Amino acid sequence: MTPRKLYHGTGPGPITPDGCAVDYYTMLTPNGEPERVHAAIPEGASILELGSGVGRVTHSLLALGHQVTAVDESPEMLAHVRGAETVCSSIQSLTLHRTFDAVLLMSFVVETADDGLRQAFLRTCREHVAEDGSVILQRQAPEWYDTVQPFERDAGDGHTVRMTEISRPEPDLLTATMEYTVGDRRWTHTFLSRRLDDDFLEAELGKAGLRMSGFLDGDRGWVRAVPR
Ligand SMILES: C[S@@+](CC[C@H](N)C(=O)[O-])C[C@H]1O[C@@H](n2cnc3c(N)ncnc32)[C@H](O)[C@@H]1O
Repeated sequence: MTPRKLYHGTGPGPITPDGCAVDYYTMLTPNGEPERVHAAIPEGASILELGSGVGRVTHSLLALGHQVTAVDESPEMLAHVRGAETVCSSIQSLTLHRTFDAVLLMSFVVETADDGLRQAFLRTCREHVAEDGSVILQRQAPEWYDTVQPFERDAGDGHTVRMTEISRPEPDLLTATMEYTVGDRRWTHTFLSRRLDDDFLEAELGKAGLRMSGFLDGDRGWVRAVPR
């Protein structure tokens, strides 16, 4: 049976409604995402970053010359963002009445297993992207849903990342628990995600007035969509 709960997080400090640990995110650094996005959009392009968290990627995008508006529903996350306009709002209810050269929805947020919520996310992207702009989405490559296995990774300095309890309640759904340990602090994040293969994603984008126009750097995990 499909689990009813989409997300669950545990551990010290504030936890966002989607299960992310704020204190853990403050310790993370970017991993190439800002440069990848920067290379895909015009110099100085304005960016609406949906689900910005603590600004892990925002701060580098600012340093690369972009104006960024950072949106998150967690005030505790946004309190760490410096130098960007911040908007505390759910993505699905965002109505800024202005458009941006690029709308960024990364961190696999678009893979929510709630179809109605995903559609609302994509409508927000459409409403806030300029007619000649791009929506940039980060998803897992579709085959990840078949191939991912439990793992444990030593990230150095007493930081360990584990993925456990993987199950596939339906062919396109995957639930798993991430476990993050830093010294004596430990957080867990259980999520349920839906595979967005190219055909399904194209249909989902179409319903929101968008179309897929390609992949960033040829990486099928990073999708560019544009207004239809
Ligand atoms: C996995 S974290 C990633 C944060 C950031 N993108 C990064 O890569 O460091 C996901 C973020 O999206 C936010 N988020 C998730 N669903 C949201 C929603 N429906 N509306 C607003 N924010 C949301 C969470 O609060 C959290 O800060």
